[in-house]
Amino acid sequence: MPFPIYLDNQATTPVDPMVLEDMLPYFTEKYGNAASVHHRLGQEAKEAVEMARKIIAQELNAAAREIIFTSGATESINLSIRGVCEQYEEKGKHIITQVTEHNAVLDTVEAMSKKGWNITLLPVDPKGHVNPESIQNAIRPDTVMVTIMHGNNEIGTLQPIGEIGKICREKRIFFHVDASQTFGKLPIDTQAMNIDLLAATSHKIYGPKGIGCLFIRQKNPKVKIKIQMEGGGHERGMRSGTLPVPLIVGFGRAVQLCVQNRNSEYKRIGELRDLLFEKIQADHPDIFMNGCEKQHLPNNLNICFPGLDSESLITRMKGIACSTGSACTSANLEPSHVLKAIGLNNELAHASIRFSLGRFNTEEEILMAIEEINRVVSAAKEKSQHLNMTSS
Ligand SMILES: Cc1ncc(COP(=O)(O)O)c(C=O)c1O
Repeated sequence: MPFPIYLDNQATTPVDPMVLEDMLPYFTEKYGNAASVHHRLGQEAKEAVEMARKIIAQELNAAAREIIFTSGATESINLSIRGVCEQYEEKGKHIITQVTEHNAVLDTVEAMSKKGWNITLLPVDPKGHVNPESIQNAIRPDTVMVTIMHGNNEIGTLQPIGEIGKICREKRIFFHVDASQTFGKLPIDTQAMNIDLLAATSHKIYGPKGIGCLFIRQKNPKVKIKIQMEGGGHERGMRSGTLPVPLIVGFGRAVQLCVQNRNSEYKRIGELRDLLFEKIQADHPDIFMNGCEKQHLPNNLNICFPGLDSESLITRMKGIACSTGSACTSANLEPSHVLKAIGLNNELAHASIRFSLGRFNTEEEILMAIEEINRVVSAAKEKSQHLNMTSS
């Protein structure tokens, strides 16, 4: 059994061996530059890139020319927000987003606000949902973009993307979706959901790190972006730089594997997640789940252990790799902005842990993890009771 048991699959996933196998020849044998169209090595690299692009486009119900490769979701998000806003700034300077977005979005809109853009940061309800009506009400004549994530990376809450897309289309506002946590895991139809731009990444779906993509709608409406990376004019001029062919091949294969096994994989992972929660709750009835039980990513489980400190719990769970609900955003440990946004106070936010399951977790591992978590939590409770008694 692997040590530690890896329950941090929302941070990143291991590369699937089948993905790696497909990537390897593109490092050493098929190493051509996809832009070298005059010889066989270049042509086969280009073919491999176009095959991956087609797989990704299909998954989004998009055309291949609507997908451009980037280094990951952070770059895609930056390109999307900066690129669209700078392109259309004559229309106005207003962006709408919501509080539990990833920092890739929050920091980018903040950078735009320093350039004179107005940002509306909408609140979420206690389960982490943004109300589509609040988006409708926030739209103004100068609004250029609405940017909303699909699945939350900390609490797993899924936003009502279809409803928001419909509003944006009716109001003729560009709609950008950060789908870093859902692409490949849940079906996404950019046509039916009226999505104009979408950021995705490979390393959350058993593909390699350092590769992602941006969907940019080319029809009904055609979305233009202001170029952020000047150079050799790769990716139809929208993102210059030699394409990392092995990574792109791996990304395409990773998507293919996700799609093939999606239903059975997420049913199994969802069952393991439920088992993990139920067995911890059976021993510790005071715990609760952060987020929404229904509209929820199947692999996410964010638990609050009231009265305990998540950092010290995690340090003691030596056999488990997982994350706190808090993000270390500076020299001080700030409570997670997501947990604060759903109404947790600092103490409860610092008592929350994210367990995120994945393809390679087995039932045996989950049972072992339950044992360890319950043991560590019981010991921590005993210790804190003892401290309370001696201090009173
Ligand atoms: C919701 C969300 N958005 C954006 C990102 C950034 O993705 P990448 O690591 O591919 O830049 C992540 C990754 O942690 C994420 O979870």
